[in-house]
Amino acid sequence: MNNIAKLYDRSSFNQDYILFNFNDKQSELLHEVSEKIVEDGGIDKIQDFSARRYFINIIQKSLSDEQKKILNLNKEGKIGALLFSNLLNSHGNKFNEFLPDELPLEKQLVNTHTIQLIAARSSILLELVDQKSFAYDIENHGKAIRLVGNFKKSTRPCSHSGVSLSAHTETPYFCSKQHSQGHSPAPSSLILSAVWNPLDEPTNIIPMYNIIDSIEPKFINQLKENCFDFIRSDSFNEGEGSGGKNIKIIEEYVDGTYMLKFNFLRFKVSENAPKIAHEAIEILKEKIKKFNPIKLSLSSRNTLIINNFKTMHCRDTIKDNRRLLVRIFGYDQNTDPIVINQNPYIVKG
Ligand SMILES: [Fe+2]
Repeated sequence: MNNIAKLYDRSSFNQDYILFNFNDKQSELLHEVSEKIVEDGGIDKIQDFSARRYFINIIQKSLSDEQKKILNLNKEGKIGALLFSNLLNSHGNKFNEFLPDELPLEKQLVNTHTIQLIAARSSILLELVDQKSFAYDIENHGKAIRLVGNFKKSTRPCSHSGVSLSAHTETPYFCSKQHSQGHSPAPSSLILSAVWNPLDEPTNIIPMYNIIDSIEPKFINQLKENCFDFIRSDSFNEGEGSGGKNIKIIEEYVDGTYMLKFNFLRFKVSENAPKIAHEAIEILKEKIKKFNPIKLSLSSRNTLIINNFKTMHCRDTIKDNRRLLVRIFGYDQNTDPIVINQNPYIVKG
């Protein structure tokens, strides 16, 4: 693992990446509450919030001042990515998960104790930063737990293949906080853990603070205009979801920090947009291309929360096809989606 424990001190407020270590007692508590959620049917079934609350309260009371400070920074949207470490594996110990000879079929995996436990744990970690796990109706068949592995043995770039993925934030791209045009906002965060990652192949992240800061204001202002189209994502269920027209790439959030929605390959300039919009998107792409991503290797014993509006992510071509990630989306409390179902929490995509 590329162990980047140092903080990227962009300013006293915004951090690109922070490592958060749980102590052994906290990891055990986290494991215990995750087990309870799995016993109750897992996060894609009805969740028992009273039991969750009880354990979460105990974990919260055990936090050191430093840990609280980090979680608060994340709640305020000031951390690009947060890596939780020193977790227990799905069996409650400190070993790696048992590694199979090849990647099992997706349908054989999703209901296994290991997957359900890692997903339950991620949902608790989201709650520690005041976020809630959810699923989109049009993605992943309305389920919160998404397995990211090369199940289709595909050779073209898509989220379910082992081929490299260019820099992106997660879809949908219509809006950031308030639902718009019949679509819920993009996820506030994605949270990733690995079941298997035999070669320690990294997840690459690109914190955008410095990149955005280095772009001339006149181009930033253009990226804030409704001048861009995006094409449909292949991560949606077949026949569902759509592209969008006249979308902003950057939205300004109330505290003046940037909210970015972008996909390197799927965005283009809208018809009739001014010439400067073409320049602005090219500059943004050029800056992203030049950035050397932070490489983080995931395992079942760590979990990464990526701020989906502050940090892009991408992937190199996977070498060991057994690499398997578990991905969940989170919404923060300022998000106003179109809710389809409360428990489990499903929103319109
Ligand atoms: Fe992604």
